[in-house]
Amino acid sequence: MELNSVDVGNIRKIKKVAVLGCGAIGSRIARSIKNELQPVCSLSGLYDIDTSKSAQLEQSISQDNLVKESFPALLQDCDILVEAINSDTRNFIQQALESRKNVLTMSVGKLLNAEDLFALSLKNGCAILIPSGAVAGIDAVKSASLAPIKKITLTTRKPVSGFSQNRYIEDQGINLGAITGETCIFEGSVDDAVRLFPRNINVAATLALASHAKSKIVIRILTSPEYTINSHEIDIQGDFGHMVSRTENVICPDNPKTSYLAVLSAIQTLKEFCSGVRIGT
Ligand SMILES: NC(=O)c1ccc[n+]([C@@H]2O[C@H](COP(=O)([O-])OP(=O)(O)OC[C@H]3O[C@@H](n4cnc5c(N)ncnc54)[C@H](O)[C@@H]3O)[C@@H](O)[C@H]2O)c1
Repeated sequence: MELNSVDVGNIRKIKKVAVLGCGAIGSRIARSIKNELQPVCSLSGLYDIDTSKSAQLEQSISQDNLVKESFPALLQDCDILVEAINSDTRNFIQQALESRKNVLTMSVGKLLNAEDLFALSLKNGCAILIPSGAVAGIDAVKSASLAPIKKITLTTRKPVSGFSQNRYIEDQGINLGAITGETCIFEGSVDDAVRLFPRNINVAATLALASHAKSKIVIRILTSPEYTINSHEIDIQGDFGHMVSRTENVICPDNPKTSYLAVLSAIQTLKEFCSGVRIGT
């Protein structure tokens, strides 16, 4: 869909978007707002705890007065907060919702057991936007969740290097260097996966929230010296039928821990929310 200011200019207010976190995802979203999403939204501010990052981004975007000196200042003049930080986000999300701002959040894991935040968004009439991230099929999972779900399996495959410095791997005495073929290093619940693999939780958390069937989900994490990319496979069975989706991800050039599709899905979520046109569920 091409965005056209003539189509939307008079009937929909241009939304002001503030970006919290100017790393790989935040920077790409900010550039997209400036370059492609301008008919439906504008950039109102940037904030990063590392001020050199926000300053650098402001300069590369060529728009003055974007960098804010604090999070409250960032919140002041925006309609939507994009949260893209790699540290604890709960307070930021809560403050934004208390200020009646819509929130697009990348830290999906923090929403897993956060009924209070969903209740707050409902009370204050603002949206929590959760991009589908690095996995395909979330649209079908959401629809399927309206009828009974029998079982969901998420199989995540990552290169061995993706698990270095993982405490669980060390505690289990798993010698990553000795792995010679495809090996399952974890099989269990969403909550355990989130606890034991904090760097790899976003897809599992998104699947749990989309399906409303956390207790029916089995997470499997596999590695092999032959894997060079991250991939995610969702297998879901229920009254709707049976669906299998497999996503092979290219890494984001700005941050090898982030999949490029996750960045694109955040931009698409923002575009659909601001334009009012949604395709899929
Ligand atoms: N939902 C998904 O599918 C998905 C996919 C990939 C990444 N993520 C998550 O998105 C987040 C951002 O990813 P990224 O690749 O852009 O990370 P990144 O490391 O490139 O950038 C994070 C930025 O946040 C800043 N930051 C950290 N704490 C801050 C604070 N308290 N206040 C302000 N700024 C702060 C850092 O300085 C950094 O610039 C991560 O938490 C990651 O887990 C989600």
